Amino acid sequence: MSIKRFRSRIRKFLRMKPTSTDPRDLKARFTDVYERRCWGSSESASGPGSTLDSGSVHRALLVLPQMVERYGIQSIADVPCGDFNWMPQFLKNHPDIEYTGYDIVDGLIAENQKRYPEVSFRALDITTQIPARADLIFSKDMVNHLVESDVWKAIANMIRSGATYLLITSNGDPVPNEELPRNFGGMSRILNLRIAPYDFPVPLHDDGYLAMWRTSDLAFVLDRAA
Ligand SMILES: C[S@@+](CC[C@H](N)C(=O)[O-])C[C@H]1O[C@@H](n2cnc3c(N)ncnc32)[C@H](O)[C@@H]1O
Repeated sequence: MSIKRFRSRIRKFLRMKPTSTDPRDLKARFTDVYERRCWGSSESASGPGSTLDSGSVHRALLVLPQMVERYGIQSIADVPCGDFNWMPQFLKNHPDIEYTGYDIVDGLIAENQKRYPEVSFRALDITTQIPARADLIFSKDMVNHLVESDVWKAIANMIRSGATYLLITSNGDPVPNEELPRNFGGMSRILNLRIAPYDFPVPLHDDGYLAMWRTSDLAFVLDRAA
């Protein structure tokens, strides 16, 4: 194992504070992560990858406008929106976009709605519920936290929403995908949708962090999730 990968594993291990919740209960798991700020950022309850100076937010703020312009996107379902820490930076430059933010944590949605009454937020578990249709489903930094069976279910429900495009975190690292050791705390791992067991086809866009597909190219996901 390379030093870089070893360090990344240690960093991830340090972020997974244990929880006392039922590991099969996703809502309890992520509510606990939110309430105890398990991802350890003082700026964002959604963790270090959601702070304004993080590389992932810089990348998202670069790529989202490009995709919106290139594909004529007029509505976005953000699944998950987390604490909405950085999304206002995008929306202030795209006031005509119809945006809805979704998250599994009720308290997070209530807090977002209180802080941003003009924005639409909804509580939803994407592994069991289907969001309202939007041109684009945007999913940053969520599937990395889910076990494989839930990754399939989540992406299937994104497709069932009728969205035309999916822009989602897919890490380009050339290492095999691994299962999450446990459905537990803030735990995550690198996840690459281009390789097994997902084997997604060639995307419209792929920068090694965010990848975009036409959902009509992902119909096979519905069979895998069934
Ligand atoms: C690391 S945060 C990322 C938030 C946001 N996308 C961002 O980049 O700031 C992951 C979020 O996924 C949410 N989440 C996890 N599982 C979910 C599910 N099944 N349905 C909806 N949201 C979920 C968590 O509550 C958490 O807010």
